[in-house]
Amino acid sequence: FLARIDAGKSPERSEFPPDFAFGVSTSAYQVEGAVKEGGRGPSIWDTYTHDFPEKVDDRSNGDIAADSYHLYKEDVRMIREVGLNAYRFSLSWSRILPRGNLRGVNKEGIKYYNNLINELIHQGIKPFVTLFHWDAPQALEDEYGGFLSSKIVDDFLDYCDICFREFGDRVKYWITINEPMTFSTKGYDHGNNAPGRCSTDVKRCGEGNSSTEPYQVAHNLLLAHATAVKLYRNQYKEEQNGMIGIAPSCDWFMPLTNSTDDEEAALRELDFRLGWILDPLTRGDYPPIMREYIGERLPRFTKEESEILRGSYDFLGINYYTAQYAAHIPYVGPSVPKSQSQDSRVSLSVVRNGIPIGPKAASSWLYVYPEGIKELLLHVKKKYNDPIIYITENGVDEHDMKMDPFLQCLNDTMRVDYHRQHISFLLEALREGVKLKGYFMWSLMDNFEWENGYTVRFGIYYVDFMDNAKRYPKSSAHWIAVSKEFVSPRA
Ligand code: BG6
Repeated sequence: FLARIDAGKSPERSEFPPDFAFGVSTSAYQVEGAVKEGGRGPSIWDTYTHDFPEKVDDRSNGDIAADSYHLYKEDVRMIREVGLNAYRFSLSWSRILPRGNLRGVNKEGIKYYNNLINELIHQGIKPFVTLFHWDAPQALEDEYGGFLSSKIVDDFLDYCDICFREFGDRVKYWITINEPMTFSTKGYDHGNNAPGRCSTDVKRCGEGNSSTEPYQVAHNLLLAHATAVKLYRNQYKEEQNGMIGIAPSCDWFMPLTNSTDDEEAALRELDFRLGWILDPLTRGDYPPIMREYIGERLPRFTKEESEILRGSYDFLGINYYTAQYAAHIPYVGPSVPKSQSQDSRVSLSVVRNGIPIGPKAASSWLYVYPEGIKELLLHVKKKYNDPIIYITENGVDEHDMKMDPFLQCLNDTMRVDYHRQHISFLLEALREGVKLKGYFMWSLMDNFEWENGYTVRFGIYYVDFMDNAKRYPKSSAHWIAVSKEFVSPRA
């Protein structure tokens, strides 16, 4: 099959800037396992998966996951083997601070990440480190409600301080927070991610208020981000010569019809998802349309907070997977919507005139629409002052096949097509002047995919979760190894 996948038209490596980062992404809770080893404290994902097993499709959890805590050297070898030059992974806050704050620093946790970082550097792979990828320390959840409280800002700052100090001599790319929008909406509105709060399904979720909590949480995430960036810039950046950013995600939205209402709805949805995060970071406040629609349920920043938010990034990470159609929902009156997801007054769909937006992947939400990556990049360039951008996640999944995994999962030609097509649109974006510096595929290997557990697989490496997390390269890994667009000088 190698010959077959090589036959398609692939962009040339020389078309990308020489220092372009080609990498893969993972996150701590999704791959590490060893949740009770090495002095790690519990995170909200440990509690959530054990308290509400029915909320994960296969009732699984990240207790063992891909066992990267023990197999990290193999992870690095796998990245090296396919010739990628960058690895984005996240640190588990409660592995470093088991109680979430300075009441205990776990040297073993620091040692684990030092080992991983050293191994990457040794193999010529640049570490891109995410500080928070959703696994908040349970201790802080118990103490003051985690990200619902602004108290988290100081504890996050202490945690970041330790990370910059311990790892910053070798880590030159920091990402404060992964997908603040997703963490806020899934954890505090849909209730299908930790900590599982929402007001529409109280029986299955913890108590919550879906029309206010997501906004409070995003607000605190933004402040935590900006405060950490300020610390990095004041105390570390110059000496360590690194960069810091944040990684929001966004689908691309297209109007369902050519009516002005639907055209506005598509732009509005972008504002309610991406603008929610990027407007504060560029202008110091939420998009005016959010203020207009949400009113006093949307928190306010003080003047000082706006100031530290504005410009608080050296680069933006963008996670892109899919696209949707947006249609306007007429306003029916002033009653308070039950949940955050109703606030934009947009109805979303993936089918127009009976035709799906693109081929469907395994996850119910993932339809392949490669043009969307270029459109989103151009939107960010235009609307948010032409920032330096990394695509920090982009990927596609297949169902877990209990039978014949080698034939069915390993032969992932749809993943090859997916990345090849998205990369072609990246090139177009580059030609149109987007300051794009790197591309990370989700994911290095199959892992614990949150509410989907192990039922879907996003990896370029197959992980046999029934046999000690043994890894096998899929066709996509072979394709990367032989493809021109990925062959690049080592870091
Ligand atoms: C992104 C996350 O939203 O999408 C990843 O940053 C996640 O952590 C990926 O694994 C795939 O989504 P899901 O919901 O299928 O796990």
